[in-house]
Amino acid sequence: MAGQQFGDYQNEIYFDGLFGVQPTLPMTFADLETRARAALSPSVWSYVAGGAGDERTQRANVSAFEGWGLVPRMMVGARQRDLTVDLFGLRLPSPLFLAPIGVIGLCAQDGHGDLAAARAAARTGVPMVASTLSVDPMEQVADRLGDTPGLFQLYTPTDRALAESLVRRAEAAGFRGIVITLDTWLTGWRPRDLATGNFPQLRGHALANYTSDPVFRARLAKTPEEDPRAAVLEWAGVFGNPLTWDDLPWLRSLTDLPLVLKGICHPEDVRRARDGGVDAVYCSNHGGRQADGGLPALDALPGVVEAADGLPVLFDSGVRTGADVVKALALGATAVGVGRPYAYGLALGGEDGVVHVLRSLLAEADLLMAVDGYPALADLRADGALRRL
Ligand SMILES: Cc1cc2nc3c(=O)[nH]c(=O)nc-3n(C[C@H](O)[C@H](O)[C@H](O)COP(=O)(O)O)c2cc1C
Repeated sequence: MAGQQFGDYQNEIYFDGLFGVQPTLPMTFADLETRARAALSPSVWSYVAGGAGDERTQRANVSAFEGWGLVPRMMVGARQRDLTVDLFGLRLPSPLFLAPIGVIGLCAQDGHGDLAAARAAARTGVPMVASTLSVDPMEQVADRLGDTPGLFQLYTPTDRALAESLVRRAEAAGFRGIVITLDTWLTGWRPRDLATGNFPQLRGHALANYTSDPVFRARLAKTPEEDPRAAVLEWAGVFGNPLTWDDLPWLRSLTDLPLVLKGICHPEDVRRARDGGVDAVYCSNHGGRQADGGLPALDALPGVVEAADGLPVLFDSGVRTGADVVKALALGATAVGVGRPYAYGLALGGEDGVVHVLRSLLAEADLLMAVDGYPALADLRADGALRRL
């Protein structure tokens, strides 16, 4: 895949234009957001677009990218760009990945968005981090990934046997790593959803990984098919484990697959994760959905990268454009996660909508590296490539 030129996507669009074929999907994030809002039901829209508190952190995640600028370099002849990355032994065609989105299933018009996102990953080579909270069970999601690697994101339940069962299933399904999300053992204060008393999982949505799990089913007096309400209540009781660092040896012992901790923003937490033998840290504030009043995730990234000291750093929160992807890479991220934009692409165009969003982000990033004279990711990370505005 080395040397694949993502920027060529624009030629396809311009050449189609010569024959009177206009893109049906949006070319800007603003347009994507506006049209997705109209396409989604009000409750799904509020759940996906909303965040914690006054959503200041959510907005700051996005505006933080405006605080940095890339310095153009000329006469570099960056005819070929190389966006390939190595992530704990996975050779990836680009540094982009699909961040885990529980209820992505509900964003698709057919209600099977997890499968559509996986098929989009298969088509683009962009890895998918599949959420614990999915409409279709993880085995079916993994099946749709083709040759593209997937990682399984674990919300660690309080029942250790259930956690182990979910991880065993992820291994058996062929996932290539386990991402443990640390910042969501309970739900942050989300006024938009509170205003309508709407929490999708409590309505029985996106619980397929639980209801298909033998350990979870063994906890129930009646099967989830016989008594769905009891299954939801059981889920609510077992979902969130307020982990401490004392649990890390156990988490590490769960699998030989690469282990990633998601939600890490403080350098001291990076060091503890490193000491505990994780394979990567994932700098994120959950897109501002969990805690308001926090730093934008991008501002935490340089400190995380420094403390990681060579350990891979995944990053998300606020990525909306190819320029954002490039800036996160220049600040040291090994791989960059796209979140809400692909949910919106899915809402508008299903699998094709996700492919369009991913190809657009990659094309813009690639063309920016060409125009600004940074042909490889290592060039972006060199001193002086990025400046504070
Ligand atoms: C609707 C929605 C559901 C999410 N569900 C999960 C999840 O199940 N697991 C997880 O680790 N993160 C989840 N996230 C957080 C994303 O992985 C990612 O951190 C976030 O979307 C990044 O912010 P951005 O979308 O504003 O760029 C979710 C995000 C959204 C928008």
